[in-house]
Amino acid sequence: MAAAVEKKEHLYKILVIGELGTGKTSIIKRYVHQFFSQHYRATIGVDFALKVLNWDADTVVRLQLWDIAGQERFGNMTRVYYKEAVGCFIVFDVTRASTFEAVTKWKADLDSKVTLSDSTPVPCVLLANKCDQAKEGLVNNVSQMDDFCKEKGFVGWFETSAKENINIEEAARFLVTRILQNDEAIAKDEADTDRIILNGPKDSSLTEKKGCCS
Ligand code: GTP
Ligand code: MG
Repeated sequence: MAAAVEKKEHLYKILVIGELGTGKTSIIKRYVHQFFSQHYRATIGVDFALKVLNWDADTVVRLQLWDIAGQERFGNMTRVYYKEAVGCFIVFDVTRASTFEAVTKWKADLDSKVTLSDSTPVPCVLLANKCDQAKEGLVNNVSQMDDFCKEKGFVGWFETSAKENINIEEAARFLVTRILQNDEAIAKDEADTDRIILNGPKDSSLTEKKGCCS
């Protein structure tokens, strides 16, 4: 009988934040349930959804999506919600420039309240949602949007439509790729730190172990 190949499994907490009515819940519903509704019901507090990705032949990625109400508006609760997140989407509505203006505040709120375990910022992708409709403001200028994202520390940005199912899978794949890279880099750093401890001269009980480990 062939031995079962053990799959690598990852569980990642992803935040979805941004102003009221920008389409956070709609993006998640589209991504997880392939469903869209015109009907608007404001999220209260936070909702959750799970998306399972068969990433490659030997990797399964589970995304725990935290759909945070726009009405939380960088309040006290966001600190609790952001804890241990490893990725983030900030969503604005391309038809309302005021929601883009608030993006900077959401990003600052995120970076001031959470980092990865190696103290680097949580990778964050900006979503310019409702791109099936007429756009207002900076989002009409691709190179200025690129500059804005670089300046504010976004890892990338995508125009999306939950209604027409545009770019949502692509944006998620992009973010997960970054998260997996960060995960590998942090694991490697931790392994290197362990090696330094094992090689350290001070503790003889640790240095003795070196022979069997290296
Ligand atoms: P809060 O929970 O209040 O923070 O809002 P939200 O960001 O979760 O917004 P929600 O997903 O509830 O969407 C708000 C409204 O925008 C709803 O009426 C949606 O149908 C509509 N909407 C969302 N995404 C799109 C889109 O891509 N295109 C269009 N045309 N409408 C959209
Ligand atoms: Mg919502």
